[in-house]
Amino acid sequence: MTRVSLRSTLIVTVFILILLTGCVNQQEYHSTATQQRFDDIELWVKRFEDPERDKWQKPSEVVKAMNLRPGDVVVDIGAGTGYFTRHLAVAVGPSGKALGLDIEPGMVKYMQEDARKLSLNNYEARVVKTDDPELAPHSVDVIFLCDTYHHIENRVEYFGNVSPSLKPGGRVVVVDFIKDTDFGPPRDHKMAEKVVLEEMKKAGYRLIKTHDLLQYHYFLEFGK
Ligand SMILES: C[S@@+](CC[C@H](N)C(=O)[O-])C[C@H]1O[C@@H](n2cnc3c(N)ncnc32)[C@H](O)[C@@H]1O
Repeated sequence: MTRVSLRSTLIVTVFILILLTGCVNQQEYHSTATQQRFDDIELWVKRFEDPERDKWQKPSEVVKAMNLRPGDVVVDIGAGTGYFTRHLAVAVGPSGKALGLDIEPGMVKYMQEDARKLSLNNYEARVVKTDDPELAPHSVDVIFLCDTYHHIENRVEYFGNVSPSLKPGGRVVVVDFIKDTDFGPPRDHKMAEKVVLEEMKKAGYRLIKTHDLLQYHYFLEFGK
């Protein structure tokens, strides 16, 4: 092999090694959050809005247990079809507001149509960025997430950044699948409750309540 071709081979090898290292880092990074798109709206509407889901997801009981007050502003991050958002809108009444946020425009459109059909004038929906729900400071009483926490990347930073949007006494409510069950998404897609507790503590929150209402989910309330 000539000196020139030896040098070219070396450069190409080093380049490939750099690329491979990048891929490994990406994989490690992604293993902290489930990267999944929810852009097949028809498919996800069937799953999220399946009437059978009410039996184990108990949306009315969950919202009742959250003790929302009339006039509260409640934000549903990763609201999907608004399966919970419509219940939240009813709970806070016409003087309150329920805001359904999602990164998928199709989901947001679905929520907007649903709010119109149900004549819920206090129910709004909007598209948000993956790393920022763009909430104004001191504007929110309760941030709610069901089955969405594990989809968010860089959660300590994310929840640290949303903290100023909470009014005094504001709460973050996390409902997500218990990891050690075969129900729901595959186990490696689910996030253990203790990880949520550790991360939220790092993000500056304290656990104020846990609810034993659901068979397949933990249901945690955090304050600042
Ligand atoms: C498993 S679904 C849950 C939907 C809804 N909360 C429910 O319980 O039916 C997760 C939703 O979160 C959305 N999502 C994922 N990452 C997000 C992010 N960073 N910010 C806002 N929404 C997100 C997805 O598009 C999807 O609609």
